[in-house]
Amino acid sequence: MTTIAVVNQKGGAGKSTIAVHLARWLHKQKKQVLVVDADGQRTSSIWLESLNYEIPFQVLQDPDELLDQLPKLADQQDWLIIDGPATLSETTRALLLWADLAIVPCQPAGVDLASASDTVRLIRQAQAIRGNLPNAVLFLNKAIKGTKLKDEAFAVLQQVQGVKLLNTIIHQRQAITDSFGQGATVFDMTGTPAGIARREFDSLFKQAMEVIDA
Ligand SMILES: Nc1ncnc2c1ncn2[C@@H]1O[C@H](COP(=O)(O)OP(=O)(O)O)[C@@H](O)[C@H]1O
Ligand SMILES: [Mg+2]
Repeated sequence: MTTIAVVNQKGGAGKSTIAVHLARWLHKQKKQVLVVDADGQRTSSIWLESLNYEIPFQVLQDPDELLDQLPKLADQQDWLIIDGPATLSETTRALLLWADLAIVPCQPAGVDLASASDTVRLIRQAQAIRGNLPNAVLFLNKAIKGTKLKDEAFAVLQQVQGVKLLNTIIHQRQAITDSFGQGATVFDMTGTPAGIARREFDSLFKQAMEVIDA
């Protein structure tokens, strides 16, 4: 009965990657989880279909359909993970009306920081209506170690109101890029690089759960 929406109107921010990895992280803990793929590109449903174990998913992209179906689905599942769309703010708004937690991945680049602030605006509008819900967290994704851009982006995101910036940063990692093509998540892959990525995701998801006491 916890609904988590991964949102950011910017394509390529890492929404599908986070949604699938979060679903797998919960699945590994034997939690009952359903992924709702709300993006027309269907990245997360194609990805989930390619795994050699089953994580159930449903494709639901129309805002009205989402508003009708989400409460019913949330009733039937312990965890609902929604992979949000790029660009369609109507759909993102619908998700924010039902989510307990919104997770916003953001790349450390100027245009991405601007698009994250557009997403934060929608979150704050929903919070004003719902009495501070959804809880919302931001994190830096695809950061490159030792770059000035990473530190600057982190400082900018720290100033954002209404959304908590998580300390954990997910770095640009080849193992993460490769996981989709391998029909896997980094939680299923062997080798040191996958292990490092796994530890970052583990830390990120733990911090996100603390925000909703889950
Ligand atoms: N931390 C990361 N390191 C390396 N590649 C990443 C990382 N996060 C996402 N990617 C890659 O970036 C691309 C866009 O990610 P995706 O999750 O599809 O974004 P979105 O769903 O927001 O459009 C994909 O090729 C994905 O593999
Ligand atoms: Mg996507």
